[in-house]
Amino acid sequence: MGTAVSETGVTYVNHEWTSPLENEDLIKNTCSACHTDLVADVKAIQKEAEDRTIAIADQLVILTDKLAAAVESGDYTEDELNAIRGVHRDAQFYWDFVFVENSEGAHNSSLTKYCLDQAEALCKKALGMFK
Ligand code: HEC
Repeated sequence: MGTAVSETGVTYVNHEWTSPLENEDLIKNTCSACHTDLVADVKAIQKEAEDRTIAIADQLVILTDKLAAAVESGDYTEDELNAIRGVHRDAQFYWDFVFVENSEGAHNSSLTKYCLDQAEALCKKALGMFK
């Protein structure tokens, strides 16, 4: 958190809750000591995370549709369906973690990337399990 100066000249730690990206003073006075262009860097991290989140969501929709069709078809044993369901749930879990995390990868870009990689690989695996 950055510092601010009150009307009476007292310097204090600013507890205003907002995204650092919305706080120009903080970026200018604190973050830019190390980050040359934090706003652009964070936007780039977020764009990559968002683009991948949307792309993998499309795969999850295809997967759930195929799973529903497989159940309807009667061509699969319960064990075969449960195996696909298990992989689908794991893929969904990793995707959900990223989707609800709220910073679009800015707080921990490597964990976000790891979770998206897992979701993507598990989607692919589940899609390969259909007859
Ligand atoms: C003393 C130096 C320093 C200051 C000051 C600093 N940072 Fe950082 N920040 C770092 C370093 C080092 C990294 C890690 C870079 C890496 O791993 O590639 C980092 C990484 C980040 C990341 C990327 C995290 C990720 O997962 O990729 C964000 C976002 C960030 N800082 C935000 C801020 C904000 C907001 C401020 C100001 C309130 C700030 N930083 C101030 C040194 C600093």
